[in-house]
Amino acid sequence: MNTQKITKNKIKGIIGRHEAEKTSLIAILQDMQNEFRYLPKEALVAVGKHLDMPLARVYEVATFYNAFSLKPRGRYLVEVCAGTACHVKGGFNLLAKLERELKIECGQTTKDGTFTLEQVRCLGCCSLAPVVRIDNDIHAYLTQDKIPRILKKYRK
Ligand code: FES
Repeated sequence: MNTQKITKNKIKGIIGRHEAEKTSLIAILQDMQNEFRYLPKEALVAVGKHLDMPLARVYEVATFYNAFSLKPRGRYLVEVCAGTACHVKGGFNLLAKLERELKIECGQTTKDGTFTLEQVRCLGCCSLAPVVRIDNDIHAYLTQDKIPRILKKYRK
């Protein structure tokens, strides 16, 4: 079976697990994001049809939440907090260090597909500032010198 056919079948399978109700939109998009690590255009079109919802509305939701991406993400999502608490405690330096270590800019994915680097407004744990989240792990009170060792753990 070719890749396109496999993708189509996966999309169909995910959609089939959800009721054709407008309230299912976010849950379907979450399942799509988990499966593909981004939201392929054909998935958004299929969701719109299933829920009888304009494609523009589906895109609106898909682009509103940081959990969703329209571009393929790497195996690990590295989120640098750019909220006020983290920013004043050196969060900006952490982003620059991660860009240097990963050899990518914010918003990009490493060539080997391991890491995607993004910036978020607040991770909701300001007392631990500055923080970086890698997938579901919060790295608190982070300093630049700890970054290479942390990345090494995920590379294994
Ligand atoms: S400002 Fe960084 S967690 Fe809130």
